[in-house]
Amino acid sequence: MVSTHPTGVQHTGSQYLPQKYDTNANPSPNQELLPLTARVHNHDLLEIGGCDVTTLVEQFGSPLYILDEETLRSACQQYRDAFKQYYKGESQVLYASKAWNCLAVCAIAASVGLGIDVASGGELYTALQAGVSADKIYLHNNNKSREELIFAIESGCTIVVDNWHELRTIVEIVEKLYTTLQKPRIMLRLTPGIECHTHEYIRTGQLDSKFGFDPNQLDELFTFVSKQSALNCVGLHSHIGSQIFERQPHRDLAAVMVQWLRDAAKYGLNITELNVGGGLGIKYTESDDPPSIEEWVKAICEVIQEACAAENLPLPKLLSEPGRSLIATACVTAYTIGSSKVIPEIRTYVAIDGGMSDNPRPITYQSVYRAVVANKMSSPLTQTVTIAGKHCESGDILIKNALLPKTEPGDILVVMGTGAYNYSMASNYNRLPRPAAVVVTNGEANLILQRETYQDLIRQDRLPERLKSQELGVKS
Ligand code: LLP
Repeated sequence: MVSTHPTGVQHTGSQYLPQKYDTNANPSPNQELLPLTARVHNHDLLEIGGCDVTTLVEQFGSPLYILDEETLRSACQQYRDAFKQYYKGESQVLYASKAWNCLAVCAIAASVGLGIDVASGGELYTALQAGVSADKIYLHNNNKSREELIFAIESGCTIVVDNWHELRTIVEIVEKLYTTLQKPRIMLRLTPGIECHTHEYIRTGQLDSKFGFDPNQLDELFTFVSKQSALNCVGLHSHIGSQIFERQPHRDLAAVMVQWLRDAAKYGLNITELNVGGGLGIKYTESDDPPSIEEWVKAICEVIQEACAAENLPLPKLLSEPGRSLIATACVTAYTIGSSKVIPEIRTYVAIDGGMSDNPRPITYQSVYRAVVANKMSSPLTQTVTIAGKHCESGDILIKNALLPKTEPGDILVVMGTGAYNYSMASNYNRLPRPAAVVVTNGEANLILQRETYQDLIRQDRLPERLKSQELGVKS
């Protein structure tokens, strides 16, 4: 059956192209399905960043992450512009690099003036290697190791302290090792007790969360910190969750944080920064309707400004750390279609050359994605199929009901919105090498992550000497 619009127009993959970009409007990338530069050329072929997607796959192999630089830059710039427009004080947008941490992505975000939020020593190392200045890096994590804390203190980044154990460890490290050096800049992460509607695994703001200090211990916490000469406590931090479409939870958060700011002053703490975290959702399917970047920023700025005015407090430096809404829509994953299996009157499986190892979100969170066929953008969408990954696991299904044109082996399937939490959560399950990634802009494609090889897969393997000499498979 051919799918049609109520207007009688046939559905094709082109319906997912960004609608407004050509008219000089400035669409919020998180409200689009495909990257802003996506076009159809030569009637049927998908182009991103001026590059033909099927040619990119021929050149760089399959599967392939394709990152559109213009979309990423536009999202970064829109966050910055919105804070400039709606916030009267100083502001700093950080890219939550857990969404996709690699040298090139950190470098692009930093080049638009963003700082970087890192969640481990490994992410901190990558951001530093990308050339990001330590004074714009903020380290998170609910169980930072001693080594990670020392690395962070030596690098000069800001540490977002999550709990008592960490706080005491930092004081001890500084008193023992760094008596003559600059005190570490820290922020305190607090759990705000705010619920939001998103998948329970990616909610963090409710009181029953592993992250952050319990706000019922504010008195104890502020008293302790105010007495520590080893620390330079500059700010408070909170994050309520991810893929959030409502604005009210972030408004509530902003209001709560200003109350904490007021309380901190009573303890003589000179808190000058508030970090409201990230969490703005993106459009993964036609029915998703997230607010724009501008609307989200405006809502937070209004509340902070009103609450500070009501409390007669000077405006803090306002930080935020979006991840998904900066990068998800900027990237697509291109796969090559291989085998298929038709089970009459039940289902048709179409298999691709990747799956849960390059995109673990469907199997982890039942996330829903949309796809197009890059070499059949103008063909009518005539079949509903299940896109299966190639892993030895029945649950390795990328998309349950994908509406596609008739497909054949060799067609290039493009899954949209894969820039966030795909590469960064990728694995080598079944010893699949992780795909390559390219960044595209103005018709130029540059490799940013090399495809792993079979040699890479055994790089860390060690075969103990006593196993080497055995004739394998032969019993003595
Ligand atoms: N700040 C903190 C402290 C965070 O924990 C996170 C995300 C962010 C900022 C960025 O949130 P975003 O703007 O990206 O929503 N793997 C899950 C998402 C986990 C989010 C973890 N924290 C997924 O694939 O949906």
